[in-house]
Amino acid sequence: MTTTPSVNRTAPKPWQWLVLALGLCLLLFVLVAEVIAPAVRESSTPSVPPAAAPDTALVQRGAYLARLGNCAQCHTARGGADYAGGNALLTPFGRVYPGNLTPHPTTGLGAWSAADFRRAMHQGIRPDGRVLNPAFPYTSYTRITQSDSDALFAFLRSLPAVDAPHRAHELPWPLGTQTALTAWRWLHFSEAPDSPGITEADTGPSARRGAALVQGLGHCAECHTPRNRLGGLRSSQAWSGALMPDGLWYAPALNDNTEAGVAGWDTADIATLLTHGQRRQAYVAGPMAEVVRNSTQYLNAADAESIALYLQTLAPATPAAVKSPAIADTTPSSPLGAKIYENQCAQCHGKQGEGVADAYPALAGNRSVLMGNTNNLTLTVLRGGYGPSTSGKPQPHGMPPYQLSLSDAEVAAVLSFIRKSWGNAAAPVTEFDINKIRNSPIR
Ligand code: HEC
Ligand code: HEC
Ligand code: HEC
Repeated sequence: MTTTPSVNRTAPKPWQWLVLALGLCLLLFVLVAEVIAPAVRESSTPSVPPAAAPDTALVQRGAYLARLGNCAQCHTARGGADYAGGNALLTPFGRVYPGNLTPHPTTGLGAWSAADFRRAMHQGIRPDGRVLNPAFPYTSYTRITQSDSDALFAFLRSLPAVDAPHRAHELPWPLGTQTALTAWRWLHFSEAPDSPGITEADTGPSARRGAALVQGLGHCAECHTPRNRLGGLRSSQAWSGALMPDGLWYAPALNDNTEAGVAGWDTADIATLLTHGQRRQAYVAGPMAEVVRNSTQYLNAADAESIALYLQTLAPATPAAVKSPAIADTTPSSPLGAKIYENQCAQCHGKQGEGVADAYPALAGNRSVLMGNTNNLTLTVLRGGYGPSTSGKPQPHGMPPYQLSLSDAEVAAVLSFIRKSWGNAAAPVTEFDINKIRNSPIR
């Protein structure tokens, strides 16, 4: 027996109405979910940028945290779009390129969920399971809390999506391989335990909060703690000072008051150094000037004070080992150095190396001048120096570069002179020391 189609073309039966109604409800529900709950679907529909206004308070907190973590420093190329990928980072093993953090669906983080992002920050692992190169300082960022990670991610999602593909790292085989990275992690990386959010746990400024900021998002150890041959941080020598990977700038010891330790300082002075870039004799320079320019100048008062309180705990609070300028102790180390100083430097730094308050650093009794490592002095004289422009110090004075006007022997002579005058008593600098830095291919 055959069923005639006409039978089915009669008026719908009640159960068919029910199916239709349910279908419509479902459709309506999907539409509503599209409009009112885009956040819920964030991870499953990456190509749709957040349409509804994201939680502005969360985004603002994320923007603040991005500055604290100085993400833009590495993830923004010179002249490029913000956070769309950075210039090559020189590591002792090769060049590594920081990728695109904007929400572009294919070249950025558009397809990532908040959980994916947290995993990258906390464990250094991408959503596709690949482990990340530790030139991305997740060795410090691992301390990030869930809520800070979510705020940072919300901020990054709020950026305009930029189509900027990753550049391939330039690492000799097998250094960039997943096997090598996995081995490295096994030796040098430990995931931080989940900590209660520092932001929530501490109400006022505290050394504990400062520790979380310095060791976590601030990633200060990445420069101020020495590394072993494989590039792992030597935790047993934490904060004891290190040459930067380019072999040029020296990040002085934060646990030694004759280098960058601030144990004897007022908390307010330390906070000012971090937010304005200069305080008393300390004038930040080189990579630290970048840190102040892009990151620490934006610290709010409570966070700056917290960091100051923590930094004070790093070195024993002995009376500052820095000597005050002796009255007339000017036995010059060489007549050449004295002559250059008189002609080229004294107009700013003073006849007795006394400097000018809030403008030119004193060189007499200045620990940066007396430090064992003389790279920073040499770089300052060869390349000149400008402090970071900050809201507290918008137009810092600068120092001209001398690489064209002074020879290696002359730079060595003037530096040896300032290290031995006005009560200063540090070892001389050799022509060879200057030559090494002048001829470095790295700018
Ligand atoms: C010192 C430089 C540096 C800083 C500072 C830095 N990053 Fe990176 N980041 C890198 C490098 C290099 C990579 C590439 C690592 C790789 O591909 O193995 C990277 C990769 C990433 C990735 C993985 C991207 C991808 O598609 O694989 C994320 C996410 C990330 N960074 C987020 C951040 C955030 C958020 C901050 C600020 C809190 C930050 N980074 C600060 C250097 C840096
Ligand atoms: C990119 C590398 C880098 C990072 C990250 C970094 N520093 Fe530095 N820091 C340096 C270098 C290089 C110097 C030496 C130049 C100078 O004296 O300013 C320095 C100097 C300092 C000084 C001494 C300044 C002076 O002039 O006496 C202090 C204090 C300091 N850093 C604190 C910090 C703190 C706190 C952090 C984390 C928020 C930090 N640094 C992160 C590289 C870095
Ligand atoms: C036009 C004024 C000017 C002249 C001339 C000048 N300097 Fe400077 N010097 C400065 C300023 C400003 C700074 C701080 C730079 C900074 O913040 O990075 C500085 C920094 C320094 C530092 C680093 C001090 C520290 O605390 O980190 C040394 C060393 C130094 N100068 C030596 C010299 C020598 C040697 C000469 C002569 C060959 C010289 N300067 C000429 C203005 C000058």
